[in-house]
Amino acid sequence: MNDSFSNLPRAAIVATGSYVPERVLTNADLEKMVETSDEWILTRTGIRERRIARPDEATSDMGTEAAKRALANAGVTAEELDMIIFATITPDMGFPNTACFVQANIGAKNAFCFDIEAACSGFVYGLDLCRQYIATGAARTILLLGAEKISCITDWKDRSLCVLFGDGAGAAVIRASDGKNGLLASVMRSDGRLHDLLKLPGGGSRNPATPETIAGGMHYMKMNGRDVFKHAVTCMTDVARKALDKAGLTVDDMKLIIPHQANLRIVNAIGERLGGGTDKYFVNLDRYGNTSAASIILALDEAVRVGRIQRGDRVLLIAFGGGFTWGATVLEW
Ligand code: ACO
Repeated sequence: MNDSFSNLPRAAIVATGSYVPERVLTNADLEKMVETSDEWILTRTGIRERRIARPDEATSDMGTEAAKRALANAGVTAEELDMIIFATITPDMGFPNTACFVQANIGAKNAFCFDIEAACSGFVYGLDLCRQYIATGAARTILLLGAEKISCITDWKDRSLCVLFGDGAGAAVIRASDGKNGLLASVMRSDGRLHDLLKLPGGGSRNPATPETIAGGMHYMKMNGRDVFKHAVTCMTDVARKALDKAGLTVDDMKLIIPHQANLRIVNAIGERLGGGTDKYFVNLDRYGNTSAASIILALDEAVRVGRIQRGDRVLLIAFGGGFTWGATVLEW
């Protein structure tokens, strides 16, 4: 394997867990809210329904539930964690970071905690960070979360956006591998020149929240859907090939490919370019929509629970999000 980390301890996902809110918002429900149809949403995106968090349910609350499930599945106690990384674009608040709230909720008193923001690529970027902390021995047991309450940055009057997204959370416990399983290779990329195509313009230091920014809807996500679509397909295909090359493997060596769950047409377009057959591409976006940083870990957790991934299987994760940011990771389960 052509990887500069090949002689260092390899990070491995010990177990995963996930949580989605109870409330289901179907395409039929959306038909009553905006000028749209089940047929339009299904044919353009593949999404049938999505989950919406309760008003009193913050991103860290969903993350906490996912964390508890991941720790239980891993047989690891919260005290054993020495690091918590939380990937999100919808933190509970500007600060403290969301990982600190999870730390307090689960009693991970020995961990240091921070958030990362790489939009929908957050979980895969986070895995790459874990890989390096484990390789250097700077951390031994890490909790990595990807969770979003996208519903709170969604303009429910904008039909081009509100049909696409959903809320949810996933978590993974990561330790040094005791065998040959673990993260085999990863490639991360960004292109900040394209920042304008997908963004949340209000509420930061560029446009602090004022009555005017709120009236102008700047606290809602903005997206140029067509351009995002084109870049997502090209970038995800390219980075997947690079990660496979780095691992010295091919699509045929992969048991499962988990692309960011944004849109079935994006998944299919990547499948046509990378190959391997549609069965290899895991999809659960029909039930959850695009959950941004939660998307890949929600899908990975489900794939493990339903038996689509067994010990020894090789899996390719491919992410893409605002920034733009994108990346791919090859792992052996
Ligand atoms: N219901 C009915 N009609 C709609 C809706 C809707 N919900 N939304 C848009 N339309 C209309 C438009 O107004 C337009 O009408 P017009 O032709 O009269 O102007 C028509 O449908 C076509 O609109 P397009 O935007 O061109 O539709 P397109 O086929 O490109 O699909 C979509 C739009 C689904 C947003 C697509 O561009 C897409 O999936 N882009 C990628 C989005 C994405 O995945 N973003 C997230 C990735 S990164 C991340 O996760 C943060």
